[in-house]
Amino acid sequence: MITLTKSLEKDYTIFVCSSYTTIKNSKVTFYLNGKQHKEKKGISILEACRSFDLYLPCLCSLTNGNQKKKKCDLCLVETNEQVSLVNACTTKIKEGMKIETNTKRATSKILQNWKRLVLLHPSLSSVEMFQGRKDMVSKTQQEKEQNFQQTIVQNKREKKSDEYYQQNSQSILDNYRTLIKNSPLTKLILEHKNQIHPIVKGKEFVSFDLLNLKRMAIDKMVDYVNNKIGQNYGICGFLEKRKIYPKNFIDIEGYRRNVHVGVDIFAPQGTPVYAPMDSTVYTSKYNGNLWNTFDGDYGPTIVLKHNIGSHTFYTLYGHLSLNSLNMKVGTTIKAGTKIGEIGDKNINGGWPTHTHIQVMSNNLIQDFEFQSKQKGDYPGVLSLKTLDMCLNNNSVYFYDPNLLISHHK
Ligand code: FES
Repeated sequence: MITLTKSLEKDYTIFVCSSYTTIKNSKVTFYLNGKQHKEKKGISILEACRSFDLYLPCLCSLTNGNQKKKKCDLCLVETNEQVSLVNACTTKIKEGMKIETNTKRATSKILQNWKRLVLLHPSLSSVEMFQGRKDMVSKTQQEKEQNFQQTIVQNKREKKSDEYYQQNSQSILDNYRTLIKNSPLTKLILEHKNQIHPIVKGKEFVSFDLLNLKRMAIDKMVDYVNNKIGQNYGICGFLEKRKIYPKNFIDIEGYRRNVHVGVDIFAPQGTPVYAPMDSTVYTSKYNGNLWNTFDGDYGPTIVLKHNIGSHTFYTLYGHLSLNSLNMKVGTTIKAGTKIGEIGDKNINGGWPTHTHIQVMSNNLIQDFEFQSKQKGDYPGVLSLKTLDMCLNNNSVYFYDPNLLISHHK
């Protein structure tokens, strides 16, 4: 007989059947910060921690050949198996193992190693130390249940908004395209098209199709991009209604954010990114949680401010390398100046290597900074509700980045 049970904590379904003993035997029991857990045999402590929402720092991607050890040594934990601290990324969980992630000895050693890494990567110093450290403390069962309840409320809201927007999405997107096409700034940029420098150069662009990727199919996206980047670079994105974003991508009213308002250029890690027009550096910021493999955020992000005629607009470049953050706020930039390079998956929010480019109006910057009380992080994915609001107010938030890209030679 097969029984179906729903586990609230892990939010997945478990089949209990006659072969259960086989599944049971392939798991080991271990203790994480005093709590008993079971996980698959053969996985590392790091993987086990992540499956229980406990994130350990992991920045091996930043170490290089200049170091004796090609390790970041930021994933150190205590176990009952060894006197010294062990690397969670290379140590496998064992039956009965006791793991402590937050002891004084582990924390101070991690801090020491972090300082060593900052010397090699000065741009890390602009990232708040131990950003995301709160994730190192496992969520309590109560918090998990609260999150679960919130998800239910969100799902109800999503259903309501989906019903309305399912019927109207195409007309909203078409009307928004017309609004930006007829805007004075679009016309002005087109008049200056001969002064635009390529943002990414070296290879031809081909269209990538990400629309079939299901929610959170990040691994599939990485495989797709890695298989396709070669002879050409990839491009896609403006006003695409994408399914890949996680459930918690919602706007402040709870409407699902799924319309991508930038253009993504997919190219290998290290590909230079250039300013398309004269500008000043408006912000240079790390967005996201450095200790989390996938948080879906921008990672290192540069925003440039441009003045053209009587108009001011802004361009954003997300998913860059940490070194790109060496670009100082207020620096005057000429068209064609290198502003950074494409970052890798471990620091770019967990995405395949690319840069997200978006063109933002002064209105968006003012409204969003007022709402969020911060600078340097602006949404790259909007709800249809927000675009609808732009249409009702006859106000553009995002212009088409292809205006700056389609003149690339
Ligand atoms: S040593 Fe870098 S993640 Fe373990």
